[in-house]
Amino acid sequence: QSCLPQNYSIRPLGSRDYDRGHLQVLGVLTDIGHHSPQDWLDQFYYMKKRNDTYFSLVIIDHASDRVVAVGTLLMERKFVHCNGKVGHIEDIAVANDQQGKKLGLRMIEALQYIGARNGCYKVILDCAVKNVPFYEKCGFVQKESQMAWYV
Ligand code: ACO
Repeated sequence: QSCLPQNYSIRPLGSRDYDRGHLQVLGVLTDIGHHSPQDWLDQFYYMKKRNDTYFSLVIIDHASDRVVAVGTLLMERKFVHCNGKVGHIEDIAVANDQQGKKLGLRMIEALQYIGARNGCYKVILDCAVKNVPFYEKCGFVQKESQMAWYV
């Protein structure tokens, strides 16, 4: 079955999703820092102005009017592959009490679709080893190694 549970929908991140708990869901993934509502809106409008580069989606549970899953596709333009594009999946998180309902899978499918429709020749991501089986179920294969340099 390739649809969301009843009463859930997926859509682009909206300007009022701060109040629907967008950051709380991201907090499942990592430390989010301390945002005022204005800090959040500044980042939201920065990305919105660049909406050919940032595609942020949320899944909403309409019963509670809360954000329950988040994810972003970042589109990178390149010279290689004849001015090709690579999609980077970033910041995937599902609220703790909503995991296991295929919301993560639906989020990834939606971001893959956006990448493909916008001309990406591949979509890539970095993840913890424990999440490899999840991404394999989403159709990803392990490739090369991840490197990081921390400032
Ligand atoms: N190990 C093995 N299998 C898994 C795992 C796992 N850690 N997580 C999910 N799966 C499987 C499920 O069992 C399911 O399999 P099935 O189709 O055979 O039933 C399939 O993957 C789809 O699972 P979903 O229900 O869609 O997973 P969920 O909605 O819980 O989302 C996610 C998975 C995103 C990893 C969620 O658990 C989460 O938010 N974790 C904390 C934050 C996190 O680690 N995010 C990923 C960061 S990586 C990045 O952002 C690029």
